[in-house]
This record gives sequence, C-alpha cells and structure tokens, in this order.
Amino acid sequence: AVFPDNQAAVRHVADAIETLVRERAAAGQPAVLGLATGSTPVPLYRELIRRHREEGLSFAHVITFNLDEYYPLEPQHPESYHRFMREQLFDHLDIPAAQIHVPPGDLPRDEIHAACTAYEQAIRDAGGVDIQILGIGRTGHIGFNEPGSGPASVTRLVTLDRLTRADAARDFRGEANVPRYAITMGVGTILRARRIFMLAWGRAKADVLRQAIEEPPRDTVPASYLQQHDATEVFLDAPAASEL
Ligand code: GLP
Repeated sequence: AVFPDNQAAVRHVADAIETLVRERAAAGQPAVLGLATGSTPVPLYRELIRRHREEGLSFAHVITFNLDEYYPLEPQHPESYHRFMREQLFDHLDIPAAQIHVPPGDLPRDEIHAACTAYEQAIRDAGGVDIQILGIGRTGHIGFNEPGSGPASVTRLVTLDRLTRADAARDFRGEANVPRYAITMGVGTILRARRIFMLAWGRAKADVLRQAIEEPPRDTVPASYLQQHDATEVFLDAPAASEL
C-alpha cells in the first residue's frame, strides 16, 4: 500500500500491532513481535510509545526479537542496536527486560554459532513471530541479509556489504569505524513470521524496492524473497513507490 506520507502508513501498522497485542492480552497469551532498527521504524516506535502513554496500550505480555546487531560491538556502544532499541522504544514501554531479545554483538567468535542456534530456538519456544517489522537496505538487504543470502538462511554471522558500511559511516563517524560483520536473523527465519510488514520511505529506496517487488526472487536482492510469503504487506510513502 502506498500512503501520502509515512505517518499515515505508520498508523495502519500500529493498528495491526495494537489489535494483536490487545487480543493476546485478553486471551492471556503473549504477542511476539519481530523488530527492526534504522531510521525507517522510528516513526512507528513513536506511535507505539504514544499509544502506550495516552491510550494505555500495555506491552507487559509482548515478547520481542530484533533482527540483527553489528559484530563486534558492545551493547553499550552508542551505535549498537541494543542501545538504539532501548532509547527508541523499550525504555518508554512497560515491557519486561526478560521478554526482549536482540542478537549479541559482543561474544567471542567461537561462541557465536551456539548463540545463533539458541536465538532460533528462543523464537520457536516463544511460539514464532506473529508480526515482523522490516526496513530495507539499499543493497536489498532485510535485517543484515546482504546479497547472496538465500531463502533458507537462518540466524548467523554475516559480512556487511560495502554500500551498507558506507551508508552507516555517518552514524559511526567514518566508514573505518563501522563493524565489518553482523549477526542477523536469516531470510528463512524472517519468512517463518506469520505476518510481515515491510516499511520504506523516500526516493533513495525506490530503485531497490522496484527490484524487490517487481523482479523474480533471487539472492542478489534478498528482500525479493518476501514475494514467497503470502502474508507480507509493504507500506510505502509516495517517493519510495515512485519506480513501481
Ligand atoms: C540497516 C538495518 C536494516 C535497515 C537498514 C535501512 O542496515 N540493519 O534493518 O532496514 O539499515 O536503514 P534505514 O531504515 O535507516 O534506511
């Protein structure tokens, strides 16, 4: 769906999340959200915080799994996704810390594989992701599934693409400071979510969105595998949709 601006898009996504969270709370069951970082979901997180503060929407029974984290990077680092999520969302909600999951960016190399396996298991133990929020990178990545990531990929350590590191250079005050790796849920992990909402704003995403949405699914544009998921919805503003 294409919206005149991202506020209108965000209200629709927040409505779907609110409906899920309230239904599950009424049934005494948790709602499981898959969350993303980057600038794209920030307006959505502001809207969820607003609904929590002004409308009493409680996140006490919500379980969250974030897509990814840079590696190596300490959780306290100003650019870590751990910190981003606390500042942009978790610190402003009533979600218990034990229900929040973000891939670890600070483990020794030889512990990563086991941690990735445990992350996949934790998602399964929670009952699977009900709603997955996604942005898209200019390389066509979802999470940090860079070109070359296949549809069956799972949570793992990946090497970041040059373009992705260049796009992150400003936040890290120079490309040399951007970590070379990341831990990310796989494309396969993402495709197991019951519903997927991909969000994108602005002209800079228009070309990669055309490739992801209109060209056949392939490893060079990992977001194109979302076409194989029957409950994916794409929320765009007019500039992002300008090449469709
Ligand atoms: C990073 C994140 C992605 C995100 C992308 C786009 O690479 N790992 O999940 O979709 O950036 O960022 P932005 O939303 O700031 O355009």
